[in-house]
Amino acid sequence: MFEKNILCIGAGYVGGPTMAVIADKCPHCKITVADINPERIAAWNSDRLPIYEPGLEEIIKRTRGKNLFFTADINRGIRENDIIFVGVNTPTKDFGVGAGMAADLQYWEKTARQILENAESSKIVVEKCTLPVKTALAMERILISTNNAIRFDVLSNPEFLAEGSAINDLENPDRILIGSRETPSGIKARDTLVEIYANWVPREKIITSNIWSSELSKLVSNAFLAQRISSINAISVICEKTDADVGEVAKAVGLDDRIGPKFLNASVGFGGSCFKKDILNLVYLCRQHNLDAVADYWEGIIKINQYQQERFILNMLDAMFHTLVDKRICLLGFAFKANTGDTRESPAIFIAKRLLEEKAEVVVSDPKALDNARKDLAGESRTEAVSYIEDPYRAAEECHAVAVLTEWDLYRKLDYRKIYDVMHKPAFIFDGRNILDHRKCYDMGFNVYSIGKPPLTHF
Ligand code: NAD
Ligand code: UDX
Repeated sequence: MFEKNILCIGAGYVGGPTMAVIADKCPHCKITVADINPERIAAWNSDRLPIYEPGLEEIIKRTRGKNLFFTADINRGIRENDIIFVGVNTPTKDFGVGAGMAADLQYWEKTARQILENAESSKIVVEKCTLPVKTALAMERILISTNNAIRFDVLSNPEFLAEGSAINDLENPDRILIGSRETPSGIKARDTLVEIYANWVPREKIITSNIWSSELSKLVSNAFLAQRISSINAISVICEKTDADVGEVAKAVGLDDRIGPKFLNASVGFGGSCFKKDILNLVYLCRQHNLDAVADYWEGIIKINQYQQERFILNMLDAMFHTLVDKRICLLGFAFKANTGDTRESPAIFIAKRLLEEKAEVVVSDPKALDNARKDLAGESRTEAVSYIEDPYRAAEECHAVAVLTEWDLYRKLDYRKIYDVMHKPAFIFDGRNILDHRKCYDMGFNVYSIGKPPLTHF
């Protein structure tokens, strides 16, 4: 009945939204999304989706049960589909050789073996996850290891979506990159995938390359984006020492169109499941090739990011008379960025833990990330000193300071006069995202500290 049958293994932040958009744009294709985690599948099949992404719910409502299906039966999915996307997680390895740096490929390799065990006909296998260069080669080696008659063509099709804007990124991508072997069968497989995307992406935006360039391009894209944030964050420190304003500097620099204005917002640091992991992955690759100078360069981006988060705490201590003991600090935002409930590698985790170390009381507020925040801080000693309150006005009650850690639009629009009134005095605001009207908050009575701008204090 359907022209193409597509499976995606891994129903996470990438697998779910990506397949939902393909289903929406390709009614002639049947899309099945499978995951090892039955609870996740149950959530995808319910009214409470496992992830929050603007616009996702509407698409799921349109497509689920028509040409989009979620299942825990991976083996059957492999048997019944000809094109298999692999979108499982590839976190940083936390054991053995390469611990803390190399990609942990165990989930990915298990998937490769599972495909081999269950396939009864030829398949196109598409790497959607972010992987070290040459991983496709390993995938090929596993898939051809039994010498049976089934053909596997491995393609690399990295995903460039950003969380919080995933649906828009998927519907209007800057580019789609498809890497393949340059053999007749590799090129045929590549063309099949091009045809799928061509249902909604203009042809000139679908670019093809050799498979290794494709794998490397994904790591490099994230490294370049993160590098801009660490660059502007490194400049924010100089601004604080010299009374320059990082917002004005970023504007002046970004107006050079060779540089451009995007990704120049100084912040408490970048977070998310991708940047740190993928840069470490690149650093490890460089070290494996004995390119230590290159590895050190890229590792510096991570170091500045850690420094920026620690600096935020040191600034708080400095401003609040060198002690945070028993002070109540309200964190506005726990997600690693706005419009998502994802907290993976969120700077807020580090900030909350450091505040607990300083013996402060922490009130966490966030419109979408409180469940994840609870899990992130569950193992900490002094967890009894943390409370979780979604309503920002209630969260700020009896607090000595408010720290803005996520750039939720909601926090720009709060009535800070109301917040000031319920706080201890002197009241402090630490704007880790530079999103508030600092002068207005200062005029209300707050002592205002931001990133890379002179503080506004009443002392
Ligand atoms: P995720 O953790 O949200 O989802 C991965 C899913 O894979 C989980 O639901 C997990 O249960 C499932 N899984 C793990 N092993 C499995 C197996 N053997 N069989 C079936 N399912 C299995 O991760 P994510 O954020 O979606 O990322 C997936 C990949 O995409 C990673 O390589 C990541 O680097 C890459 N990526 C992520 C983003 C992003 O913004 N999150 C963007 C681009 C690329
Ligand atoms: C990133 C890439 O943007 C995306 O292309 C890739 O596919 C996955 O990794 P994501 O991690 O979802 O996406 O979010 P992104 O918008 O890149 O933000 C990452 C972090 O940088 C967030 O913590 C964000 O708040 C921070 N950031 C971003 C800044 O601090 N300043 C900026 O100017 C931009």
